[in-house]
Amino acid sequence: MERVPKVAVIGSANMDLVTQTPRMPKVGETLEARRFHTGFGGKGANQAVALSRLGADVMMVARIGDDMFGAEMKRNFEENGVDARFVEPVPGCSTGVAAISVDDEGNNCIMIVKGANGTLSPDDVAGAGESLKRSDMLLLQLEISLDTVYAAIDFGAKNGVPVFLNPAPGMPLKREYLRMVDFLAPNETELEIITGMPVASTGDVLAAARSLVNEGVPKVLVTLGAKGSLLVDSKEHLFVDPFPVKPVDTTGAGDAFIGAFIVEYLGSKDIKGAMKMANRYAALSTTREGTQKSFLHRAEFDTLLEERKA
Ligand code: RIB
Repeated sequence: MERVPKVAVIGSANMDLVTQTPRMPKVGETLEARRFHTGFGGKGANQAVALSRLGADVMMVARIGDDMFGAEMKRNFEENGVDARFVEPVPGCSTGVAAISVDDEGNNCIMIVKGANGTLSPDDVAGAGESLKRSDMLLLQLEISLDTVYAAIDFGAKNGVPVFLNPAPGMPLKREYLRMVDFLAPNETELEIITGMPVASTGDVLAAARSLVNEGVPKVLVTLGAKGSLLVDSKEHLFVDPFPVKPVDTTGAGDAFIGAFIVEYLGSKDIKGAMKMANRYAALSTTREGTQKSFLHRAEFDTLLEERKA
């Protein structure tokens, strides 16, 4: 990596409340789960921490509650080397939380309560404007208000700062804004929600991603979980194979992918290389429990890859 890339994440921070269960309960069923643990999460915070652990210079713009989770959250950003100047508490508001169930196959179900995340406003984006302008990329997800996401996309476009949008959780989005982002990175479910097209087969996924490119989205990068990842733009499409692992918890793997992809892409501008690295980093995160807890630091990541090669 020649120059340390500067990334600004405008997004969410959640406290993850995780239940480890043999299987997902049915509607109306009471099930005894095996274990419970808490961890720092939120798609914005997770991606910021992955970026920082891999060597990027990261700034976070977020809102936390004025409760004990909020104070811990801010400390966590600082301990992970993320610039948290624009992470501010909101009086009378709770910190975002995520109730997560993880089954024995490593699958997860997540329910979030936005709390303070929902108060991050277009004015807050403008307030961080001078610092945002100095970034190499703005990184957004959808766990904050959509107006704020659109304002940030607009800010990036007007100030010549590339925008990377991870449209998670999935929801219908205005095409005029999608055309302004440099990368749109959904998973298959989010792609289905945005396009209204089926994603049952690889061919379906390719067609759905291509439909967005045909509508003017420059680059669509689809995370396919255990099937790897796919990039579609107006010139080509590129499938990159998965990195084989035995997963124990897939929560946050998409966030790990995005952090790793952006660090590598900003350093090398090599999309295929960045997808390969991101597939590996995300796969390795699934071999450990938790979200941020499962994200490797650069040195550990490089060592593990060397060991796998040997
Ligand atoms: O992507 C995983 C994240 O989704 C969790 O950390 C949880 O907080 C939700 O935002």
